[in-house]
Amino acid sequence: MERTLAILKPDCVRKNLTGEVLARIQKAGFNVRALRQVQLSRAEAEGFYAVHHERPFFGELVAFMTSGPCVPMVLEKENAVADFRTLIGATDPAEAAEGTIRRDFADNKGQNIAHGSDSVENGRQEANYFFAEKELVSRGG
Ligand code: RTP
Ligand code: MG
Repeated sequence: MERTLAILKPDCVRKNLTGEVLARIQKAGFNVRALRQVQLSRAEAEGFYAVHHERPFFGELVAFMTSGPCVPMVLEKENAVADFRTLIGATDPAEAAEGTIRRDFADNKGQNIAHGSDSVENGRQEANYFFAEKELVSRGG
């Protein structure tokens, strides 16, 4: 089954939206295989977003991702990667479709509530960044 790595970002946790966003994710049919609340270190955030190292917003992104706890989770579903990105909407909430998580909850492009892997390969790699294979469980059914 296809796998994606989602992160409820520190703004989501700070706004007490963890439950509400998770409910949307579950209603959309994702199987939550693993989930935990963590405080990322600077090195962990830099490593996770290493692909953006040269981008002008990198420092801001790392500062934001380490500004409080976040909730990484491994989600499984057919077409999980694309379907999760559809569920959260465009990076900039002002450009995100109506009814998407970012459109409904995010303040701006930098602080946009949720991360979703952008390819199947990155979904696998990012899941492994946060969780060991033996930590993955299934709801069954
Ligand atoms: P993500 O990786 O978090 O799921 O977001 P994404 O694919 O929609 O966007 P990406 O281009 O990968 O950017 C990663 C995160 O960097 C922050 N960002 N800030 N201020 C800016 O112009 C800007 N651009 C990107 C956002 O938090 C974005 O989600
Ligand atoms: Mg991205």
